[in-house]
Amino acid sequence: MNTEKKHQSLMKKHHTESVKKNLAGVSTPHGFTLDDAIRSGVENEDSGVGIYAGDEESYVLFSEIFDPVIEEYHGGYKPTDMHTADLDSEKLIADSIDPDGTFVVSTRIRVGRNLKGTGFSPAIKQDERREVEQNVVNALSTLSGELSGEYYPILGMNEEIRERLVTDHFLFKQGDRFLASAGANRDWPEGRGIFHSGDKRFLVWVNEEDQLRIISMQEGGGIREVFERLSGGIRTLQEKLAFAYTDHLGYLSSCPTNLGTAMRASVHVKLPKLGKNEEHLKRICKELKLSVRGINGEHSDSEGGVYDISNKQRLGISEVNAVNLLIRGVGTLIMLEKCAD
Ligand code: ARG
Repeated sequence: MNTEKKHQSLMKKHHTESVKKNLAGVSTPHGFTLDDAIRSGVENEDSGVGIYAGDEESYVLFSEIFDPVIEEYHGGYKPTDMHTADLDSEKLIADSIDPDGTFVVSTRIRVGRNLKGTGFSPAIKQDERREVEQNVVNALSTLSGELSGEYYPILGMNEEIRERLVTDHFLFKQGDRFLASAGANRDWPEGRGIFHSGDKRFLVWVNEEDQLRIISMQEGGGIREVFERLSGGIRTLQEKLAFAYTDHLGYLSSCPTNLGTAMRASVHVKLPKLGKNEEHLKRICKELKLSVRGINGEHSDSEGGVYDISNKQRLGISEVNAVNLLIRGVGTLIMLEKCAD
């Protein structure tokens, strides 16, 4: 990252004198203040965004700073714009993202969710976190068929299970320094855990960056199966849990980058030739409205020419449209890879 950009988080840019003056002394029902919201960006000067919400009300009470951050991050999304959710898998344009099965190693979709009326990870209290965990675990126990599975709390986890989950890349770790500054790591690892179905294709992380991260994944490019499993799981959980949602911001997440669909649909795809020039690859992905990262999570590097490609836009676009964009974009990347020398 070049140094000019170093102190240029969206938070910093929009943390104006007017914001400081108007929001001083304002606090949400969870006791969350503007200082709490921006702490991560203040302490981590290389933040790209640098602001978190402590609850639903943060987005309303601190809208003077959240609105311009959201508008800039989400491609001009205005305070008057409305978001529409659509999880109808019938509308997907393909069954597979890589019908020949030669480039796409695996496909994964996750969505973030938080329960209505509760504190999000930066502001949630210890008791409330335990309560959220209990409610989520109860809801998870109603999943049936291929979705049924078991919940593993991280606190006091059996070493054998822990090692297996780590090896399989299923277990999330304590949050990074951005989340630590935001307050999301308090009381770690209490109240956190992982649910997975028998075949480990359906997972739910509990009380990580968001209270729920609902994940569907499998080897290969079978995007329709992945999407159907995810939407089926969400439907069942929704019968028991009320998720924080507004017509304007969609599903509410602790980080404003995840608002709307709160969805990251991604593939691990082999692009060894295009990957020889990563700057070029990044430019192509930007053009295709896709994000590119390494295969070991956010801020990681590529390994063996395999890249993690995902939808960039999450707000003001439906889930099906975002996945269709990924299907088309990865199709283009594969075509370019085939032509490259
Ligand atoms: N707060 C960090 C930043 O501003 C991460 C933002 C996006 N990532 C995330 N996991 N929410 O750079």
